[in-house]
Amino acid sequence: MSKHMTPECYKVITKYVFDICGIVLGDDKHYLIEQRLTPVLPDLGCETFTDLAKKLNSGVTNFLTREKMLNAMTTNETSFFRDDHPYVAFRDKIMPDMLERVKQRKERPWQRRGPKVAMWSVAASTGQEPYSMAMVIADVVTAKGMGLVTMEDFGILGTDISSKVLARAMEGVYSSLEVARGLTPEMRNRHFLQDGSSYVVGEKLRKIVEFKAFNIQDPFTQIGSFDVIFCRNILIYFSDDAKRKILSQFFQILAPDGYLLLGSAENMYNLNSDFVTERYGATTIYKKPAPK
Ligand SMILES: C[S@@+](CC[C@H](N)C(=O)[O-])C[C@H]1O[C@@H](n2cnc3c(N)ncnc32)[C@H](O)[C@@H]1O
Repeated sequence: MSKHMTPECYKVITKYVFDICGIVLGDDKHYLIEQRLTPVLPDLGCETFTDLAKKLNSGVTNFLTREKMLNAMTTNETSFFRDDHPYVAFRDKIMPDMLERVKQRKERPWQRRGPKVAMWSVAASTGQEPYSMAMVIADVVTAKGMGLVTMEDFGILGTDISSKVLARAMEGVYSSLEVARGLTPEMRNRHFLQDGSSYVVGEKLRKIVEFKAFNIQDPFTQIGSFDVIFCRNILIYFSDDAKRKILSQFFQILAPDGYLLLGSAENMYNLNSDFVTERYGATTIYKKPAPK
């Protein structure tokens, strides 16, 4: 039986993907879908795309079907210090501000429980982004913390919708190829332990990074409030309406003077005008202005 998709199947599958995670698959993604779903058809109890479309259309799909579809259809490409320049802005522009913030908040301990400065890596994928943020924090704290600011003053939440990538992020074990993408040997030796041909994220970083599953299409009511949000290379997959909703929720949950960084191919043009933009080198930083 043919494993190719009819236009009807294509419609059902792309609608299902949109409904579960907001990813918009245009009219030209037949190849991508076939390539990603063909290997998981047997796991889904299907022989053909027609079987799959019937299953998804029946409305009785279970949690496992959703997980398998999500794990197959999300694009999880990432690397340590991806694009580099946002991390320069984070280290040289945002972190000095965060050190001051920690010191100020320490003078008013009754105002906040938990870490003094909270950060969110929205689409953490296999963990390279939140661990890169943690490496910057560790290096800045060592160089400039002067015992007044410590690693424990920071907390990073890494979230993703895909259980498969989150499991890897929590494990924090990377191949030599993965660490070579973005890390110098010095950075690697400073922050990782070697285990055979793999590299394991060091305890210092692990202590401030936690992971949990979160669908960014869901309301942000339970997620908390943050001083810095990295939302990189995920908005590109969504509709303008979804982007507007997400950006306005970022604005709500950011602390006054909080920072948002988007991916290099993402911006807020025609989507949100609440944020103030600042350029730092090659990076656009979005800032929530403090009330006057
Ligand atoms: C291309 S990766 C970006 C990783 C990282 N932020 C970076 O820039 O290197 C996009 C991630 O977004 C996740 N994702 C897709 N839809 C999502 C949703 N609705 N909620 C949360 N995460 C989602 C995918 O699972 C994937 O791991």
